[in-house]
Amino acid sequence: MTSHRIALHPLRIAIALPLLATPAVHAADAARGGQIAVECQACHGPDGNSPSPLFPRLAGQHAEYLVIAMQSYRDGRRTDPIMRAAIQNVQEGDLADLAEWFATQKPATGTQAGTADRSAALAAAGQSVGPVGTAPASTGVLASAPTSGCPDPKASPTRDRDGDGVADADDAAPRDRDEFAKDADGDGFHEICTAGQLQAIRTLGTAPGSRTALTLDQRMARNYEIVADLDLAGISNWQPIGDCGPEQSCMKAGDKYGFAGQVEGHGHAVRGLRIDRPEAGGVGLFGVVKKTGVITNIRVIDARVRAGNGAGALVGANFGTVSNAEAIGSDVYAKAAVGALVGGSAGTVIRGRATGKVGGEAALGGVIGDMRGVVTDSWADVAVSGTKGAGGLVGLNTFGRVLNSYATGPVSAVDNAGGLVGMNTDAVVENSYATGAVSGTGTNTGGLVGFNSLSKVRGSYATGAVTGKAAAGSLVGRNAGEVSQSSAAGPVNGAAGLLVGDGSAGAVVP
Ligand code: HEC
Repeated sequence: MTSHRIALHPLRIAIALPLLATPAVHAADAARGGQIAVECQACHGPDGNSPSPLFPRLAGQHAEYLVIAMQSYRDGRRTDPIMRAAIQNVQEGDLADLAEWFATQKPATGTQAGTADRSAALAAAGQSVGPVGTAPASTGVLASAPTSGCPDPKASPTRDRDGDGVADADDAAPRDRDEFAKDADGDGFHEICTAGQLQAIRTLGTAPGSRTALTLDQRMARNYEIVADLDLAGISNWQPIGDCGPEQSCMKAGDKYGFAGQVEGHGHAVRGLRIDRPEAGGVGLFGVVKKTGVITNIRVIDARVRAGNGAGALVGANFGTVSNAEAIGSDVYAKAAVGALVGGSAGTVIRGRATGKVGGEAALGGVIGDMRGVVTDSWADVAVSGTKGAGGLVGLNTFGRVLNSYATGPVSAVDNAGGLVGMNTDAVVENSYATGAVSGTGTNTGGLVGFNSLSKVRGSYATGAVTGKAAAGSLVGRNAGEVSQSSAAGPVNGAAGLLVGDGSAGAVVP
């Protein structure tokens, strides 16, 4: 074993010894651990260096320490509900390999190790991760934020003295064409005080005749804090912050062009978002958020969004972290990957909440339309309707995880409609439920999940009424995966129905 074990506290060695003594233990295999670690990426980053302070850095921590930490989440000595759920699927024999892989990754500077920092980050954000069902109707996080970096409210609404394309009334530094937002309190976050400033993150210098030395890349990499409620009513067709670039397909472009910084919303509301870009991809208040991007403590109220694909009130395509964020009264419509909060997400959504309605053709969900990441501690009361792959919380869940979450809205589609998730592929749903009515005019209609393909549904339930044709079940429409410790109470086509409509290719375990 590696030499740094000598440096460990004696207590840790004592705890680690029984594990090392079991005959099943083999020399830890970092390469094998790296393969399993794919399951941890969404939160801890691709190499254990999480870009978000919400998730501790694992890269370069002592392997022995990591094993003990993981065991503690499993056996309840550590109580974090997110991590407890995330580690349940890992075999005991894999812990050492996982730990070895993370231990051999290079720690990035500027990321945070350990859970203490995370608690501080959560406390600073005024939030704590609570159990499902306790999510309040609004964040209630109105931490007093500085306004000293804000423009003079008496400044002329149209005049632009520094010619950067931002009117003086929106410009915290109207004589400095490199600045439109200031970090007056020096906390590393530039204060956003007006709707114009928020839009200028994207549009600075693009107005005819305006000049700026602050490039789009620089603006996209900065951190911002929203210090007032913002009304976007004066902006007729919002330009999403961060986009898919010339490829026009966010999934192809990846997160190349997205917003890379952090936004701390301090619980403030952003009202009146209007977007009508029926051909565009990656559309929302933020269009595309990169892996390093973090959007937190923000409320988007009464947004109306029309787009081609990848559309959500808060984020069109998310590769980063969205936390403690809500979209209330959303009305989002696009062809594919449509969510009331987030359109497509390969990143993490934690404590996301949404109400309103979502419509389109494919991959439609109350919180996220098309998901390849993690959603946890989230809920939706959203009416979802479309052609295929519609879920009260998530439309398509591919390789993803839905944990500790619920949905209450009605769902209707032709194929693959579920109260919580439309279709699971190689995915997991755990400790979650749905109560909305679900109707499907084609195949695979389920109170919780429409089509569960090569996926696991565990410790979950549904109560909504199910109306369907082929393969309709009170819990799962078609099951080609594993359903365990789950139940359902809703009627199917008006009568007591089967838990699983068509389960010929799957298993149900008590
Ligand atoms: C859904 C998000 C999520 C996923 C997926 C996830 N984790 Fe975590 N992890 C967390 C959070 C949040 C914490 C901090 C919990 C706390 O405060 O105790 C954490 C903490 C940890 C810690 C403790 C670190 C320390 O410094 O004490 C370890 C070790 C860890 N995770 C390992 C893993 C491994 C291995 C995987 C993949 C099998 C994984 N995690 C997947 C969210 C996640």
